[in-house]
Amino acid sequence: MLNMITEKDLKVLITERELQDKIAELGKKLNEYYKKEEVYVVCVLKGSVMFTVDLVKHLKMPVHLNFIRLSSYGSGFTSTGKVNAVDISLPDLNGKNVLIIEDIIDTGLTAKFLIDFMNLNFKTKTLNFCSLLDKKETRKTDIQPDYSCFDIGNQFVVGYGLDYDGFYRNLPYIGYVET
Ligand code: IMP
Ligand code: MG
Repeated sequence: MLNMITEKDLKVLITERELQDKIAELGKKLNEYYKKEEVYVVCVLKGSVMFTVDLVKHLKMPVHLNFIRLSSYGSGFTSTGKVNAVDISLPDLNGKNVLIIEDIIDTGLTAKFLIDFMNLNFKTKTLNFCSLLDKKETRKTDIQPDYSCFDIGNQFVVGYGLDYDGFYRNLPYIGYVET
């Protein structure tokens, strides 16, 4: 069991301003991509909650907001490599523009699980994957997000939805711990 990290051990990696500016930029790109067509947003709880609520406020088309819950991390710093579908009830997404919103792509196993799940269950009109953060170095699949805001190195980050053992999701910035 790892020691509890405290907020004073955290260094700021991405400030609140940087996050909000990039999210506004992404909102613009999505408005251009979808034009005025309706979009079914799928927010992957719990990590993507902050990113999703800030991003959808920039969207100008009709947005149908959905939440699903998956888990892959245990309570530590590394992925368990197994994805659990905790709650994946969704409306009929056949023929819809579907935008999956994730907090971070690490190994890519969660993203792969979700994309496979969507393709198996629905024939969507479009299926796009958008992630706030992208840890390219630790990828174990060939999944790339269609949209991502920041590339980060192989470090454990918390804040703005991301947690360590359930805590720190409320921070308005992305922080990291030096291990
Ligand atoms: P993947 O399946 O390995 O790509 O991991 C994706 C999930 O692991 C994310 O949705 C996060 O919940 C979690 N995760 C990956 N890296 C971090 C991190 O640095 N901090 C907190 N959670 C993380
Ligand atoms: Mg997550």
